[in-house]
Amino acid sequence: PQSEQEAAFEARIDADGRIEPQDWMPEAYRKTLVRQISQHAHSEVVGMLPEGNWISRAPSLKRKAILIAKVQDEGGHGLYLYSAAETLGTGRDEMIAGLLSGRAKYSSIFNYPTLNWADVGVIGWLVDGAAIMNQIPLCRCSYGPYARAMIRVCKEESFHQRQGYEALLVMMKGTEAQRRMVQDAVDRLWWKCLAMFGPPDADSPHSAQGMRWGIKRVSNDELRQKFIDATVPQAKVLGVTLPDPDLKWNEARGHHDYGQIDWQEFWNTVEGNGPCNKERLATRVKAHEDGRWVREAALAHARKQQARASK
Ligand code: 3HC
Repeated sequence: PQSEQEAAFEARIDADGRIEPQDWMPEAYRKTLVRQISQHAHSEVVGMLPEGNWISRAPSLKRKAILIAKVQDEGGHGLYLYSAAETLGTGRDEMIAGLLSGRAKYSSIFNYPTLNWADVGVIGWLVDGAAIMNQIPLCRCSYGPYARAMIRVCKEESFHQRQGYEALLVMMKGTEAQRRMVQDAVDRLWWKCLAMFGPPDADSPHSAQGMRWGIKRVSNDELRQKFIDATVPQAKVLGVTLPDPDLKWNEARGHHDYGQIDWQEFWNTVEGNGPCNKERLATRVKAHEDGRWVREAALAHARKQQARASK
């Protein structure tokens, strides 16, 4: 038999209502949200690194200003998300400790290197494009603070996506060498972007319950398909080839068919053995250590002010 609280929770979910921090919720719902928000927040924070790598080498003042703003936005997204998780009773220190120890996950995509300037454009166009596709439905997530955080995040991601596409359009109108750089970046990142949506629905342990609870609104495979369908015409306008010989329009399905994603390579990366996992974590650990004195000074200052105020 359900408790009264449980029945009220279920009824709210069935009516597509919002769950707020003060509401009763099943422990498993809370845990799923903390897991997802934690991995999302860490993705934003680690996601600053591959592009941060190019700030000092951006080809013009305009591109540098855009890139700094974008990387700063990602840091901000991490902060909103850590705050959303705090409303579920999990502190930021605890989550960051999970990231730095390698226990907590973050998106697979940020474990690949950014080898040329076109990678920055392709991250905007495809990585942020995939992120938006996944995050728009999260604006309707059943947990209020997460859903509300996503509204602003999606607006900013939309700017990120467009700046990337625009940078690539300019390169494609440039020299042959620039066009080759763009194609090379697309070739290296395309399949990794498709894997961002997570494992196929049949192999996704959390999907059914996540959908049932209204945390996830659209499945991993459906989002991946929507992303591919949206991206094919954009690639055509840009003049790049998406590196998949099996990619073609299927009239009967009303969608593009596509080739096999290398899931073994994906899991290998998720488990910590991708090309840049160790470097990314080491960079975060160093940043955390280097910032220790700032945190300590801020705390000491706050304590002094508190002591003064209570005199
Ligand atoms: N990278 C790393 N791990 C992944 C992954 C990916 N691309 N896709 C799935 N996984 C992990 C899951 O976290 C889960 O592991 P866990 O049990 O240890 O938590 C496992 O693989 C099984 O996957 P499921 O499909 O069952 O898991 P979910 O139901 O949680 O779905 C998800 C996965 C679709 C990524 C979902 O968690 C989600 O929508 N998350 C929020 C969005 C997000 O995290 N985006 C991050 C990248 S975008 C970004 O950071 C913005 C950029 O601009 C910087």
